[in-house]
Amino acid sequence: MTAKVYNFGAGPAMLPKPVMEKIQQEWLDYQGMGVSVIEISHRSSQFVEILNEAQSLFRELTGLPDNYRILFLHGGARMQFSALPMNLAGRTAGGRCLYFETGNFAQLAAKDAAAYATVDVVASSAASGFDRIPAYDPQALSTDASYVHLTSNNTLYGTRWHRFPSTGDVPLVADMTSEILSRKIDFTQFGVIYAGMQKNLGPSGMAMVIVREDLLGYAAPHTPLLLNYEQAAKDNSLTNTTNTFAVYTTKLVLEWLKEQGGLAAIEQRNEEKAALLYQVIDASDFYQSVAHPEHRSVMNVCFRLGDDTLEARFLEQAGAAGLYALKGHRSVGGLRASIYNPMPKAGVEALATFMHEFAAQNG
Ligand SMILES: Cc1ncc(COP(=O)(O)O)c(C=O)c1O
Repeated sequence: MTAKVYNFGAGPAMLPKPVMEKIQQEWLDYQGMGVSVIEISHRSSQFVEILNEAQSLFRELTGLPDNYRILFLHGGARMQFSALPMNLAGRTAGGRCLYFETGNFAQLAAKDAAAYATVDVVASSAASGFDRIPAYDPQALSTDASYVHLTSNNTLYGTRWHRFPSTGDVPLVADMTSEILSRKIDFTQFGVIYAGMQKNLGPSGMAMVIVREDLLGYAAPHTPLLLNYEQAAKDNSLTNTTNTFAVYTTKLVLEWLKEQGGLAAIEQRNEEKAALLYQVIDASDFYQSVAHPEHRSVMNVCFRLGDDTLEARFLEQAGAAGLYALKGHRSVGGLRASIYNPMPKAGVEALATFMHEFAAQNG
């Protein structure tokens, strides 16, 4: 038996244990068919049932209204950085798209979009190392733009939008890759929401894209068929062979989330988990928070020790204690605990205890 390990990796991230066990149990024989779920046609009634069930569980958990479509698209979140402007920049004659620059993924989203649209950055926190969500002029948003884009949780810096800007008739678009389904959010504030699946939903390589129906039909003529939202909505995401394993796993994750008590319960648990770590960080000068306290994420807790040797020792000793993948992103440095929905409270408690002890021994 391998010793107990808690996986704090930012993504692909840990999945709920009961989900992994269910996959293992069904792996060779999906519901008495004598074949695996990954060996059946994406057009079989059994798979279409899985796909539809995943969509209806998502609606049930989030209260997503019927005028939004739920799509499963290839290429992870980053593919959406290009797909989004291809599908939506044409909504207005000027094709101007507004971006909040709150981290490297927000920057990449704007950079990729610039190949297909006129991109303007409305506000940036680059000057303070992306330690916060920047202040912005609300007047700058109520324009004739095709959409306004933001990254709701910034995975590398551990910041998040606590409240979202009001954009009037301009559709608000959110990259929710590192926080989808972690808290109750009124999805009707948004025109489009997308999320790479490898953190709170399932395996990597796919994105869930939620689009309001009135925003379908604006795709530029050069948009590849497989990136066209309207086509995907028409085909229920089965224009070609989808990643059936990813959709199946996501369905199991959504079932698990429902069993946990839904979003209100998971949100409370996530707040409690994050508070345990921020309390240790704030209790002494030994740890320094990367994110400004008012903008902190509950999914990615980023901190520093201000000393490379000490951080290397922290990682080595944490690893030996079964606390895995706590290294910060290479562009930010320091340490990061990603505590997505599946991370049990016991894992966070183990990390908080370790951090206390490490500070006492090395402070
Ligand atoms: C907020 C955010 N957006 C986009 C991405 C890129 O996702 P993918 O690798 O699925 O393209 C990530 C990956 O961690 C992310 O955290």
